[in-house]
Amino acid sequence: MHVRLPEVHSRTVEVAGTTVHYRETRGPHAEPGGPALLLLHGFPSGSHQFRRLIDLIGADHRVVAPDYPGFGRSPRTPAQPDIRYYAEGVRGLLDRLNLDRVVLGGVSMGGYVAFECMRLFPDRVAGLILANTRPDPDSEEIRKTRNEMALRVAKEGIGVLAELQMERLLAPEALREDELVENVRDMILENSPDGAVAALSVMRERPDSTPLLGKLDVPTLVIGGEEDDISSPEVMGAMAAKIPGARHVTIPNTGHLSNLEAPEKFDSALDEFLKSIA
Ligand code: MLT
Repeated sequence: MHVRLPEVHSRTVEVAGTTVHYRETRGPHAEPGGPALLLLHGFPSGSHQFRRLIDLIGADHRVVAPDYPGFGRSPRTPAQPDIRYYAEGVRGLLDRLNLDRVVLGGVSMGGYVAFECMRLFPDRVAGLILANTRPDPDSEEIRKTRNEMALRVAKEGIGVLAELQMERLLAPEALREDELVENVRDMILENSPDGAVAALSVMRERPDSTPLLGKLDVPTLVIGGEEDDISSPEVMGAMAAKIPGARHVTIPNTGHLSNLEAPEKFDSALDEFLKSIA
């Protein structure tokens, strides 16, 4: 069967003095007036992380997926960003694209940014997707690992992240798919070392989002991979239990990059969720 893939546009805009690159599909079959979907990538990915998912959902939804500064095709910023800086970038993009309200989806670090968006401008969010993420801040041990990783990236370049992260990101089954592994490697190499070092500090200094969970009052989908060791099904389940009315989906045999590893399963959970809130 020949499937017509949606057209994906690659654009850059100026947002608050910073250049932001984003991918967008216009969703030719989208419900008129339905909210767009804004997807926030994880670390050390880029908006390219949503490539397979966008092929599946892009015809039926307007989808916007930005790159943080120094990631993908967004140039680095001279500022030292924090989580608020990333979230303000999202708000700036919503304003720039005249998007009043969106369904906001965040994968892992994208989830940390989505929590900050919910603290800063909850009225702009019609629904929330928290994928492979966690609400608690870094432990002392993780903070130390972030510092060591930042030093290695600064000294050795971005390639070291592919070396250090690949087995944490993909489930054993996905690690045997050569093409997928190559794609993930290319996606990591597309990022600048400065962008990655900055993001490590953004994550290290992020606040605890656990107190926010009970206050979230938009429809929420919590979705993750059965074999994700970074945001395990237990962590995701405990998070979902604290969010009023949230639904929790665990995709079997997938790891931390569940939307890339199992795009069809991710898409069907997403589709069901989006229909439930339409
Ligand atoms: C991510 O995928 O964004 C990162 O693994 C999150 C983290 O390291 O906390």
